[in-house]
Amino acid sequence: MPNVFRQAVLTGEIALTTKAPVLRGARIAGTGSAVPDRILTNFDLEKMVDTSDEWIVERTGIRERRIASEDVVTSDLASQAALRALDDAGMTAEEVDLIIVATVTPDTIFPSCACWVQAKIGAKKAAAFDISAGCTGFVYAVSLAWGLVAQGAYDSILVVGAETLSRIVDWEDRNTCVLFGDGAGAAVVKPCELGEGILEYVLKSDGTGSDVLIIPAGGSGMPASHETVESRLHYIKMKGNPVYRFAVRAMVEATSEVLEKANLKIEDVDLIIPHQANQRLIELAAERLGVPDKLYSNVAKFGNTSAASIPIALDEAARGGVLKNGDTLVLVGFGAGLTWGGAVLKWNKE
Ligand code: UT7
Repeated sequence: MPNVFRQAVLTGEIALTTKAPVLRGARIAGTGSAVPDRILTNFDLEKMVDTSDEWIVERTGIRERRIASEDVVTSDLASQAALRALDDAGMTAEEVDLIIVATVTPDTIFPSCACWVQAKIGAKKAAAFDISAGCTGFVYAVSLAWGLVAQGAYDSILVVGAETLSRIVDWEDRNTCVLFGDGAGAAVVKPCELGEGILEYVLKSDGTGSDVLIIPAGGSGMPASHETVESRLHYIKMKGNPVYRFAVRAMVEATSEVLEKANLKIEDVDLIIPHQANQRLIELAAERLGVPDKLYSNVAKFGNTSAASIPIALDEAARGGVLKNGDTLVLVGFGAGLTWGGAVLKWNKE
């Protein structure tokens, strides 16, 4: 047992349970985001595939999305967002202990995107690794960061959700290409008083649903070959309807469970930041949860940016004054895996 725990157990400051002992709380001390300048509108898409602005807006609420230029990779957007989050937290990159990047579009299969970020921002002492949990990646990463800080392993963790989905979208497939966009969001997780900051989380997965949202080729199961490229198997394949049905259930379940775990009620919540996939989904989840006006949405502007969508929205809500100190906030995500999960926070950035 590490000395710090032994001492705390002996003095009765913490109790040993079946769960790992928690010494302190962990909070989000700064946020940042970065999106490419180039805007791709629904009207632009009308010229690329058989679709219409009317169909896209009615079915998804998306009006435009950002697309990275050819010379920009995921770690560039991630690094920009990370530096803004560090600045917001009043920290330098040299102070960061650990970088966790949630992404499905790393620059390279290996090394990790987090290692590219570590080099680009000059976080010399930081350990670095990626999390692959689809669009739930940021919720997974924040939850993990909470545990590592709360147990005293690290003092400053940079959590990033970053994607260049435009690189894995099939621009000839109207079922998917209208949905996705590029961007990155970041948060700095630091220690705080117990009972403040990140209060509880739930993380879930169901691998039996892996085929409804997948890139079939390019991994060990179907290595890249001329045939896989010709068959367009390196692009996102999605069965929209099953994902839609799962998504509503997942958002309601994760929100309800995480609130119950934290001994909170839906009425106690000031703001819910859901994964930004589809406006209809967000509205349906809001209706089922009985809080029609508490779910944040910016999907019209950015489309679905997978693991980046929650931290981009979080940064927007924090900087725009929608989120205030003392607010109770829920982050809730769902995505490929299948994965889903939620975290509840007492927002105390100051
Ligand atoms: O991060 C998680 C990622 N994924 C999601 O969250 C996606 C969840 N699913 C959805 O959001 C919805 O299922 C979609 C927006 C993808 C599709 O909406 P839908 O109401 O479920 O439409 P649908 O798939 O049932 O398709 C209806 C029709 C089809 O035509 P037919 O077969 O009825 O003639 C599609 O071919 O709409 C057609 N369609 C389009 N039409 C114009 C599909 N995509 C388009 C398009 N433009 N872009």
